[in-house]
Amino acid sequence: MSSLIVELGSRSYPIYIDSGLLSNSPITSHIKGNKVCIVTNAVVADLYLASLQQQLTNYDVDVVVLADGEQEKSLANFERIMAHLLSKLHGRDSTLIALGGGVIGDITGFAAACYQRGIDFIQVPTTLLAQVDSSVGGKTAVNHPLGKNMIGAFHQPKAVLIDVQSLVSLPKREFAAGMAEVIKYGILGDVEFFAWLEANKVAIKQGNSSVLATMIERCCQNKANIVAQDETESGVRALLNLGHTFAHAIEAEQGYGKWLHGEAVAAGMVQAANLAVVLGFITSSQVKRIEQLLRYFDLPTEGPSTMDIESYLKHMVRDKKNLNGKIRLIIPTSIGKTEIFDNISREQLQQVI
Ligand code: NAD
Ligand code: GLY
Repeated sequence: MSSLIVELGSRSYPIYIDSGLLSNSPITSHIKGNKVCIVTNAVVADLYLASLQQQLTNYDVDVVVLADGEQEKSLANFERIMAHLLSKLHGRDSTLIALGGGVIGDITGFAAACYQRGIDFIQVPTTLLAQVDSSVGGKTAVNHPLGKNMIGAFHQPKAVLIDVQSLVSLPKREFAAGMAEVIKYGILGDVEFFAWLEANKVAIKQGNSSVLATMIERCCQNKANIVAQDETESGVRALLNLGHTFAHAIEAEQGYGKWLHGEAVAAGMVQAANLAVVLGFITSSQVKRIEQLLRYFDLPTEGPSTMDIESYLKHMVRDKKNLNGKIRLIIPTSIGKTEIFDNISREQLQQVI
């Protein structure tokens, strides 16, 4: 088993990565009281709830099973979790466990941040996206009808347990969406990792578990380093949003669910890379290198043909990264290095849409 630490002083926590952690892991060393509530969804519960529960036989465990889907990351389900915790007499020493993808991780983390002003929680991510991104770093949220992730808190987990074996049951399209976030780490700050992904792409696609574990560990290490420097995104953490400003516009314009988040991020990263060509930072052959890797993992490299500049801009102006009313974009200045720009003109944007 490999493990690494997210260094945040007294709130530091380990990320464990291995095959089989759903049935055998150090989870109990991160639970302080004797009451635990697992939050999961119907799909993941059928697959993995029994294994996880079997590790917790010495605890008083109850379970909240939500329906599947992004629409379930709602205030109504947040309220349902609160009512459940109150009715089961959970206290400040209770621990929540998020078993599932990013939807479950985000709503469970937010519930943990709010219940009795904050209780412990543990992330057990079961999608690739959640394993390499959403389970690490303490961003928690629910959606509001007027905006995705608009109600939330920073609340770090006590531990993250990544069972690489859980990816076996993940639908191929969801795996590919996670690969967009994996490739993102290479482009934004780790050129050696980008080259490693190119060299190991066949084994990754075949699901070789030791190669997947190495890949996930590198992503988590990259994310842990960034979060340790800038927990609440006042600086360098914004770089993790490479491709996301375009992606959020695509997702919102197309209607959530039509494009998976990772698919929109893939197209958005190519748009950001093309902006880097317009600005003279990188060459079109470097963009081709990025496109080839994304395409190998069956990811799109262009936004929807129906979207024009206005349809992007109307969403980009609401982006959480914007400052003083200016749109801020993350742009690669080479493969492996990114910077934040707030001076991109409409004409420059037009060239990549
Ligand atoms: P998801 O949680 O909806 O999971 C995708 C699908 O896979 C679901 O149908 C789920 O039931 C299913 N699933 C999960 N694990 C499975 C498994 N092992 N086998 C088979 N099916 C499985 O989506 P996601 O892509 O994991 O996460 C997206 C969410 O994460 C969004 O709400 C996004 O806003 C959030 N997010 C948060 C952060 C953060 O830093 N907090 C970062 C990125 C994304
Ligand atoms: N997913 C971006 C972040 O955690 O900051």
